Amino acid sequence: MPTEHSADPVLTARDLTRHYHVSRGLFKGDAVVRALNGVSFELYPGQTLAVVGESGCGKSTLARALTLIEEPTSGSLQIGGREVAGASRADRAQLRRDVQMVFQNPYASLNPRQKIGDQLAEPLIINTSLSRSERREHVQEMMRQVGLRPEHYQRYPHMFSGGQRQRIALARAMMLTPKVLIADEPTSALDVSIQAQVLNLFKDLQEEFGTAYVFISHNLAVVRHVADQVLVMYLGKPAEMGPRDKLYERPLHPYTQALLSATPSLRPAPDKPRIKIQGELPNPLSPPSGCVFNTRCPHATEHCRQEEPALREVDGRQVACHYAERFVEGGEISIAS
Ligand SMILES: Nc1ncnc2c1ncn2[C@@H]1O[C@H](COP(=O)(O)OP(=O)(O)O)[C@@H](O)[C@H]1O
Ligand SMILES: [Mg+2]
Repeated sequence: MPTEHSADPVLTARDLTRHYHVSRGLFKGDAVVRALNGVSFELYPGQTLAVVGESGCGKSTLARALTLIEEPTSGSLQIGGREVAGASRADRAQLRRDVQMVFQNPYASLNPRQKIGDQLAEPLIINTSLSRSERREHVQEMMRQVGLRPEHYQRYPHMFSGGQRQRIALARAMMLTPKVLIADEPTSALDVSIQAQVLNLFKDLQEEFGTAYVFISHNLAVVRHVADQVLVMYLGKPAEMGPRDKLYERPLHPYTQALLSATPSLRPAPDKPRIKIQGELPNPLSPPSGCVFNTRCPHATEHCRQEEPALREVDGRQVACHYAERFVEGGEISIAS
């Protein structure tokens, strides 16, 4: 969006939307959860889009749409310039290979009864004509790149630590050098001391292969290390999206401000009062009218309760707040309600 790119985007989402129908019980009928409610972005080779927001804001729903695990309810998705909707079976299979995924819990996605080396070789058996020894060479090279030792080839998943398992999951996702890697809370289950190592590995692999990442996390301190662009979501909608430094230095959406302020290591001045997000997350089955954040926003006015703010360009990023301009000049924030 803001920087100039010579290459074409590897991933283009336009107004991606995913609704779920849920039953409210025998006599109440069905209701709709708008889990993902109009998300658009472009992602370029070698770049990282971080997606942040509280639990339930639609991050994993977005991940499932981007990896073609679930069809979007509406909106469009292009991978490497090719539209996903209406693609033939064969094209879809290729598009699936182009977008790989790493989950929060790598143990769940590894086969407990298969040696690590064999699991890593599997995508090569299915998708390439490499010989057995070539595959082995390939796997060992990838294992080296993710910091595993050759003797690990013969071991089973339970013999590894959480951090090592995430290295294995990353190696497997990268085996066919995908265009895009979607990582859904990949370090959230790891000890803090291990998180930094795994984040560095993400960065090293990106440098090596030029892969684009969608990096999903609820933790803004983690995201700061990896993101080029940041998308902040609230109740399925983008609140603010733009270059990392813009958002971290001067967040314009009150929700971004509150998230940053709640992350102790990122609070701009330790003596600044912490902005607390008021109240509970609204029930996603009946989101607030007007601005979806209005029930918890310290600055909300009648206007915010009535009219939904459009996502619009302010100060080099996109933001969905009627009052975004008031926060641009760093001065004290005051809105009379
Ligand atoms: N399969 C589903 N059926 C019904 N509701 C769902 C389903 N998956 C997710 N949701 C709802 O969609 C919203 C977003 O969920 P999710 O994408 O998992 O959020 P996050 O990953 O940010 O925690 C939540 O309100 C969740 O309860
Ligand atoms: Mg999730």
